[in-house]
Amino acid sequence: MTSITFIRPDDLHVHVRDGALMQSVLPYTARQFGRAIIMPNLRPPVTTTEKAQAYRDAILAARPKGSNFQPLMTCYLTDDISLNEVASGMVDGVFAAAKLYPANATTNSDSGVTDIEKLTPLFALLERQGKPLLIHGEVTDSTVDVFDRESVFIDRVLEPLLSRFPELRVVFEHITTQEAVDFVRSHAKSGRLGATITAHHMLINRNAMFQGGLRPHHYCLPVAKRERHRQALVQAATSGEPAFFLGTDSAPHPISAKESACGCAGIYTAPLALELYAEVFEEAGALDKLENFASRNGAAFYRMPENKDVVTLEQEMWTVPEQIDGVAPFRAGQTMRWRFKE
Ligand code: NCD
Ligand code: ZN
Repeated sequence: MTSITFIRPDDLHVHVRDGALMQSVLPYTARQFGRAIIMPNLRPPVTTTEKAQAYRDAILAARPKGSNFQPLMTCYLTDDISLNEVASGMVDGVFAAAKLYPANATTNSDSGVTDIEKLTPLFALLERQGKPLLIHGEVTDSTVDVFDRESVFIDRVLEPLLSRFPELRVVFEHITTQEAVDFVRSHAKSGRLGATITAHHMLINRNAMFQGGLRPHHYCLPVAKRERHRQALVQAATSGEPAFFLGTDSAPHPISAKESACGCAGIYTAPLALELYAEVFEEAGALDKLENFASRNGAAFYRMPENKDVVTLEQEMWTVPEQIDGVAPFRAGQTMRWRFKE
């Protein structure tokens, strides 16, 4: 097989930043994907419809000429988020979903939620409106090992939340463990729990952070886990099962912020996102399942029609640039065997 063509995919979890960095990174997402769920962890975070609308306009303006790419905006939940604001933003169609960051779980999450009990009315609202709650699923308890934070989150937070709100629709974002895969599968019948899976979590295990020295460009949150977890993610994504869908979590940071005494979490994959996923699916002998994972399952979960056009990837060797506008992409300097056709 020398090329594959499939329905244009959506990226259901991406950081496109703002300002100059957005001008650099947004075109890469816009050329490959029809739509994307835009993460709201700017500084300050996107907590109002006004901010979301302005951010959306800036993203639309940063698209390459002729692009039909559509950003889907999300609301950053805080302890004191206005219920009215979220409600009206959802009714007006500005917010496609709401994003829950446990406070201090990851980059720019210091305004995140400290006590989810306080958000009971908000969860009830989302439940009534059928709008997804997107969850960064890690506990922040300093006594819990960083590699266990996702699995502990399932028991302490996610399971009780789903029980308390039986109709609430949830996306367990960027899952990294066998436990998360199993948990999502255990809810498959209800169809109300989905999960995004990044390409990088299917391509590296935690050894990649320590290969011959500290490798800050392989550090992201949730942190990569053991090999058996990587294999579980590949198995889930390539199964074609509807609960699992594409979300790159492309999270660009300037090289200076990554290569620092306290390096930022985040892996930049947008410039080669589909190429990376194609590699994973090809290695698993499941290229025929890529379209479900990338273009169908997420659209169905978000109750959107599938994109009408197609994309093509060709087998062609090319070298990933060492850096793009001061940001090092995943696989910098390395050879890729699939290439997105413009
Ligand atoms: C993200 C970022 O940099 O905004 N970082 C990351 O490691 N994925 C935040 C996030 O999604 O956790
Ligand atoms: Zn993210």
